[in-house]
Amino acid sequence: MTQMIQTSVRVNGVDRQVQAHPDTPLLWVLRETLKMTGTKYGCGVAQCSACLVHIDGVAAQSCQIPLSEVGSRAITTIEGLSPDSSHPVQKAWIAEQVPQCGYCQSGQIMRASALLKKNPRPSRDDILAEMQLNLCRCGSYRRIVAAVERAAREG
Ligand code: FES
Ligand code: FES
Repeated sequence: MTQMIQTSVRVNGVDRQVQAHPDTPLLWVLRETLKMTGTKYGCGVAQCSACLVHIDGVAAQSCQIPLSEVGSRAITTIEGLSPDSSHPVQKAWIAEQVPQCGYCQSGQIMRASALLKKNPRPSRDDILAEMQLNLCRCGSYRRIVAAVERAAREG
């Protein structure tokens, strides 16, 4: 059985000491060790993106990344996307009243914010291609697209 390791992870701009098995998925380090529960577990097999975070600014499924592979890379979770929920994507999400049950939404917002970072003026097809990588069992897809368009327009 693998030994626990003590290591440091940089989350939302802060170095955090964690102790866990090296093969523990980052998702569980965030949720269980650091008690940051904004990042959600949906499937654990790279299908839903409920667990999406940014690693060095790029969208990544945290259920697929073992602690041993995080290294010194900067992790951003929904809790750290903005200090006061004022990120253009968060404001657009409220304006368009996107969430239904809400479970998938932190992953959706992290996907949308990563998209707009690399492509501030996405076409509708760009938005559809990117956001289809995140599942929403409530079917809030139409409002998600409207919110990404609004964030691109008003951001
Ligand atoms: S929980 Fe990570 S992709 Fe579904
Ligand atoms: S809002 Fe319920 S799963 Fe997306």
